[in-house]
Amino acid sequence: MAFRFVRVFSSRRTLTTFQNSRVVPVTFKHKNLIPVLSRTYTTPITPPPPPQSNPQSDNSSNKILYLIGAAALIGGGSYYLYTNNLVKDIGVSENKVPDKPKVIDYQKIYNQIADILEDNDYDDGSYGPILVRLAWHASGTYDKNTNTGGSDGSTMRFSPESDHGANAGLKTARDKLEVIKLANPGITYADLWSLGGVTAIQEMGGPIIPWIPGRKDAEDGSKCTVDGLLPDASKTSNHLREIFGRMGFNDREIVALAGAHALGRCHPDRSGYSGPWTTSPTLFTNDFYIELLKKKWQEKKWKGPKQYVDKETGELMMLPSDLALIQDKKLKPYVEEYAKDEELFFKDFSAAFHKLQELGLTRTGEETVYRFKRTSDEEVKK
Ligand code: HEM
Repeated sequence: MAFRFVRVFSSRRTLTTFQNSRVVPVTFKHKNLIPVLSRTYTTPITPPPPPQSNPQSDNSSNKILYLIGAAALIGGGSYYLYTNNLVKDIGVSENKVPDKPKVIDYQKIYNQIADILEDNDYDDGSYGPILVRLAWHASGTYDKNTNTGGSDGSTMRFSPESDHGANAGLKTARDKLEVIKLANPGITYADLWSLGGVTAIQEMGGPIIPWIPGRKDAEDGSKCTVDGLLPDASKTSNHLREIFGRMGFNDREIVALAGAHALGRCHPDRSGYSGPWTTSPTLFTNDFYIELLKKKWQEKKWKGPKQYVDKETGELMMLPSDLALIQDKKLKPYVEEYAKDEELFFKDFSAAFHKLQELGLTRTGEETVYRFKRTSDEEVKK
């Protein structure tokens, strides 16, 4: 089966950054770029083989020591240059801890996040899907009855919420955004995670999602939400109504939000499930609904949790909670609508995802609502 992958990243300029004590070239697209500290977009360079030990030659071991020293110096120098660039990038003097700026340039942060999405060594080539999942899990804990949970607080930084089974694997996404936080100390984690989801959706070809900043970070784990607030993939429509209803979503919104499963995949070491939903897991489309209706789904024969695979190839998957969307008579018509009309899906998804990101926040109505330009739009203009 041919998988379609988006490669929306282009016209990069090359910089040098520091990876595993080796200086390697990395490419970035934007002026205000953020070097990736732990990963690179390029094919990793194979480190030279460890020197053979030769007990007869003190000279050679000295040479090795010199080499290590030189590498450390080059490394330290590169890191110094890197942090300097970063400091210049955020426009503050070199010897000062960056102040939290009064006015934050969110489009600039959007562009920086866009720059770190692609990585050929990660999953299907993009961190986009896992950033969407982070934004969703950070906000999907909302309870409208108690006005607790939601996207304010970024409580998933703390245990026990970080260890909740539903959040398995999301450390990868949180860590990925650290470099953006470092360069933009003024943005809260809660806003950053939310903006990460919005950026990822738009950059993977999805709709513009109106976005409002203003989320605060909790000081500690005392406001962590209880376990079990996010949906259980082994359950069906009544459970989905219960969970999403608690957040304030109706049937139509449940189906619209579930369309995000066009993106990404299940990982056996995270949820226990396995495989992607669509053949284009880094592209935001209405393919989730199309596949759900078009393919014949049969139970996967394996030792893992109950899930479905397409009969034809066995390469695509559906969770029991996904199939519930066409087993439930009230939900299925929405699946059919969205499969037929991608524009309608984009419109409804945008509204529902915006609403999801607003859960748990008190707004005055006076806030600035941001609509970010996709980086591909910017490139077209140049
Ligand atoms: C309807 C109830 C839902 C259930 C039961 C569910 C369950 C799951 C599960 C089990 C995974 C696999 C995690 C892994 O193994 O890495 C997953 C991944 C994902 N979910 Fe959901 N989810 C639901 C709704 C949503 C919603 C509302 C969104 C966003 C609007 C969303 C976005 C994603 C994305 C993008 C991934 C892929 C992550 C990756 O590739 O790393 N899901 N979901």
